Amino acid sequence: MAATSNAVTSTILNIEPIDLEYAGLRKDDLKGEVAVVTGGASNVGLGYARAMAWAGAKVVIADLNETAGTETERVINAENGPDTALFVKTNIAEEADVKNLAARAFEKYGKVDILVNNAMNMRLNGPVLKSPVGDLDSSYAISARGVMLAVKEFVPGMLERKHGVVTYSATQFHYCPPMVGGAIYTAGKAAATSLIMSLANEVRDSGVYVFCLTPAGVGRFDFSKMPPPPKGMELPKDAPKPDFKMFGMPGFNGMIPPEAGGAAMVYCILHAKELHGSGIIINDAFLAMNYPFPNPATVNRAKSRRLSDMELTMAFCNMGPGFAE
Ligand SMILES: NC(=O)c1ccc[n+]([C@@H]2O[C@H](COP(=O)([O-])OP(=O)(O)OC[C@H]3O[C@@H](n4cnc5c(N)ncnc54)[C@H](O)[C@@H]3O)[C@@H](O)[C@H]2O)c1
Repeated sequence: MAATSNAVTSTILNIEPIDLEYAGLRKDDLKGEVAVVTGGASNVGLGYARAMAWAGAKVVIADLNETAGTETERVINAENGPDTALFVKTNIAEEADVKNLAARAFEKYGKVDILVNNAMNMRLNGPVLKSPVGDLDSSYAISARGVMLAVKEFVPGMLERKHGVVTYSATQFHYCPPMVGGAIYTAGKAAATSLIMSLANEVRDSGVYVFCLTPAGVGRFDFSKMPPPPKGMELPKDAPKPDFKMFGMPGFNGMIPPEAGGAAMVYCILHAKELHGSGIIINDAFLAMNYPFPNPATVNRAKSRRLSDMELTMAFCNMGPGFAE
């Protein structure tokens, strides 16, 4: 992603310039669409919101974090023109907040076509035996309850217009070793994934398309600032340093940049009919896009699909047909 001289910068958000033409997307791909992104003021959701706005959508950012949310609205409007974005401070677990979110979105843009359920408190991630029951309640409140509240506000309008997309940021961290996630987190995620797949059934043949996208390994993380590995786990001194350029994705440093995650989301929304009732992992979206990641010259395709260690997890997403080969 080449930086341009008029690139919008932020001292609050961790962003890079966004230009998704190189990913095969066009500025008018989502023209005329209005999207709500929960948890849209940080990392994955921020990448989704900026990418959808870049592709021509109006975006409503629903997030608890007022500072980051206000800044997200400013950045997106500076990147795409005034009135492209609206921030509404929202606790997605609270019915009154979600009703207020819907009222503000409808007042400003008249409709909502795309609902991206993405909010989560990543600190609710403890093991069963060591966590207070309240943590499980909070995890469910954001994941499952929050998704249901948003669905109930926004999907009826989509059904009336026979036009809409609902998606959920599922997780690969269910119970697949070695990526065992904290039970409190994974239980909430699994419930919401199941809820979303049930919704896909409820609205089938309606013109509203529903799928899960797992944004595995998306973020901006400075690996050079990582603490040294525990004793006995050190790499040999002469171990080769990873060459992230070989992965073929601009900005890749072991993590997928959120702007690229956003590109995958835009692509999936454009292909929502194909994905209805299924869940895919982000690498599959990149492969379907012919995005320069994983670099076909350097990465074994079968390995990058990680099907064998993901199958169990994706069973929560109904492991639909995904993209046509
Ligand atoms: N980062 C990844 O690679 C990855 C992998 C798998 C799944 N996910 C899923 O993607 C989503 C985003 O992950 P992330 O890494 O960007 O997390 P993050 O913590 O950076 O962002 C989460 C956002 O949600 C907001 N939020 C938290 N509680 C909220 C609430 N009650 N109401 C409204 N907003 C709330 C936060 O303020 C924050 O802006 C999560 O649902 C996560 O489970 C992420």
